[in-house]
Amino acid sequence: MSVVPKLVHTFSETPSSEAVAPNDLDAYWLPFTANRQFKRAPRLLQAAEGMYYRTTDGRRILDGSAGLWAVNAGHCRREIVEAVQRQVAELDYATAFQMSHPKTFLLASRLRELLPGDMDHVFFTNSGSESVDTALKIALAYHQAQGDTERTILVGRQRGYHGVNFGGLSVGGIAANQRQFPNLLPAVDHLPDTHLPDLNAFSRGQPEHGAERADALLEIIERHGAERIAAVIVEPVAGSTGVLVPPIGYLERLRAHCDDHGILLIFDEVICGFGRLGAAFAADRFGVQPDLMTIAKGLTNATVPMGAVGVRKPIHDALMTGPENIIELFHGYTYSGHPLACAAALATLDLYRDEQIFEGAAAKALPFEEAAHTLDSLEHVVDVRNLGFMVGVELQSREGEPGERAREVFMRCYEAGVLVRYTQDTIAVSPPLIISGAEIDRLFATLRSAIEATD
Ligand SMILES: Cc1ncc(COP(=O)(O)O)c(C=O)c1O
Repeated sequence: MSVVPKLVHTFSETPSSEAVAPNDLDAYWLPFTANRQFKRAPRLLQAAEGMYYRTTDGRRILDGSAGLWAVNAGHCRREIVEAVQRQVAELDYATAFQMSHPKTFLLASRLRELLPGDMDHVFFTNSGSESVDTALKIALAYHQAQGDTERTILVGRQRGYHGVNFGGLSVGGIAANQRQFPNLLPAVDHLPDTHLPDLNAFSRGQPEHGAERADALLEIIERHGAERIAAVIVEPVAGSTGVLVPPIGYLERLRAHCDDHGILLIFDEVICGFGRLGAAFAADRFGVQPDLMTIAKGLTNATVPMGAVGVRKPIHDALMTGPENIIELFHGYTYSGHPLACAAALATLDLYRDEQIFEGAAAKALPFEEAAHTLDSLEHVVDVRNLGFMVGVELQSREGEPGERAREVFMRCYEAGVLVRYTQDTIAVSPPLIISGAEIDRLFATLRSAIEATD
């Protein structure tokens, strides 16, 4: 059993409102974490404000990963905190089935204003994973409603991350995430990823080569028959796999192939949405309209868990048929449109608008890119790729120790007061969009020192 040094409390000694550091690390099973290693030297966050976390041992940490690509407006924003406080005192929970509350409608209407094109309906979930599974189910239900009952195949992409539920895991393309779970969805196929390091390494913004990778959809169509394919799902910029930016023309080509063959296109914008690419959504940034869109994370600035699926009008309308007393979609969550999440999301959307956070991100994207590419010439750095406020710094893997070099860099950064993320041997940088020029410099200077210090 591990013990957190210095901060030892028991629940009986500690008032419930006081921040509690656990004195027994055993019971909690951390997600996506090497639990035994972590518990030997835990990293615990106690408080946050703006660009910074404070750890339980009183250190100030510059947040270079916006929590988990989510805290786009910075931490503990007063407007969001107060909105949630007011909401919990007024309406803690509203029954979600056959009942609702006014803020769900208000939020859906606000989102409709922001969502691209004729994407004018919103289904609420509680996470990115739930949004993905919801979007896949809506796609399947749509084709069933159209009488296209054979259209059941879902197409994802290698290296795609679409969360951890069975649908998202099946269309996802990260082998390590699938290895322990043999019973994935059967009717699934995958496009190749868009990573072409020989041609595109050290690209600034969208890489030049690889649009034709979208043509792999034609081979998949050839293999299964277009009339059997329901939907294609991709992250516009693949995030969790280590920031893969789509080649110029790739998403447009994918859209065209889907259009030609009656296949729905789903953009998983769980990371890309809400300003990370310097526009409300990647769909806006790339000028490509998806049929369905998954969002989460930045929707509430991560203050309260919430996700959603944006749905284009023809898809929504195709399901609003039949007798009016019959449920149109047998799907939903106890916490769909939870009042606290709605209050947080409304306050977050106000902040994004009032502080012009997306526009600010667009304006700072170039200095951010410049700072990132100062790492290009470092030893062990085999690629730096970026778009908007997403950067991937790929390091040469050590022989027989994949991920170890990046883990060391991550640890050195953390010890120097900067939080980044790593996947395999790629360091991902994605700070809150309110980051200042001086903080951008500090972030990449710290990363540089950490890479230089790592053999
Ligand atoms: C593109 C994408 N989709 C889905 C998810 C899953 O979201 P969640 O962890 O909220 O379930 C993530 C999480 O990082 C993501 O990046």
